[in-house]
Amino acid sequence: MTQTATLSRKNIIGMENLTSEDIEIILDTADSFKEISTRAIKKVPTLRGRTIINLFFEPSTRTRTSFEIAGKRLSADVINISGSASSTVKGESLIDTARNLEAMNPDILVIRHNCSGAPALISQFINCPVINAGDGAHEHPSQSLLDLLTIREHKGTLKGLKVAIVGDITHSRVARSNIRAMQTMGMEVKVVGPPTLIPVGIEELGVEVCYDIGEGIRDADVIMVLRIQLERQNQGLLSSLREYSNYFCLTEKHLSNVSNDTLIIHPGPVNRGIEIALDVMEGPRSLILDQVTNGVAVRMALFYLLLGESDANPN
Ligand code: CP
Repeated sequence: MTQTATLSRKNIIGMENLTSEDIEIILDTADSFKEISTRAIKKVPTLRGRTIINLFFEPSTRTRTSFEIAGKRLSADVINISGSASSTVKGESLIDTARNLEAMNPDILVIRHNCSGAPALISQFINCPVINAGDGAHEHPSQSLLDLLTIREHKGTLKGLKVAIVGDITHSRVARSNIRAMQTMGMEVKVVGPPTLIPVGIEELGVEVCYDIGEGIRDADVIMVLRIQLERQNQGLLSSLREYSNYFCLTEKHLSNVSNDTLIIHPGPVNRGIEIALDVMEGPRSLILDQVTNGVAVRMALFYLLLGESDANPN
């Protein structure tokens, strides 16, 4: 592939910053990279000699691993740093940490942080591209991109699709990124959950709000189920997990009232039996593992497009 398309942004901080053209370019590029991961030798020389640093201040299974695999499949050198093993625990500031890492001349810094705005802040102090791998309750753009790729793959299009996002909307960076991205791509978004987990005034973003799961998912082409964040259970937002589950766990009974073509996605990690029933999670409409597979391709596309390899050849 010779790169002809370029993104309007040097950093990937949030979906609110990406145009529909940017999103199409990323999804098309990811699509073209998927085949590499099916080869016996899953490596191309495209980013040979490039260096990627993954700096994660929060736990991660999918995002961190797939950014690492994506870099390695493109032959980049990938370095992983955990926040707990960095000198921030000795008192170094986040900005000093980023500037010291940049002094070693990486080509991209990928960062996950529990504080909303941390990747945007860092991007103001260093010159190499920054990718937000999830910041607080703000945004998780690469998750949204892999969600869109998965939906487009199965529906053939994004425009005009109806999506119901079910669960803890208030604390979800995945919901925030997807609401923005889906609207950019001409999709209709409904948020579904208990009033305590849906931000007041969210209608102003142009989404519909529904407090009943049966009604909320009835006309959905895609149901995105979100994780109930167990770490927030002490905030008094739910009386109990059992009660949440009674009212909002997505079950086969709910699905009997929606189209057979309705797709189920979930960003993971999943609380089995709390937000989604086991048979739904593992049933034929569930694309949860397809999302994970697509995460590698999307992250390969981001690296490739941000590093602007005009003579890159993935073959
Ligand atoms: N979806 C997601 O961000 O999962 P991880 O926390 O495991 O990276």
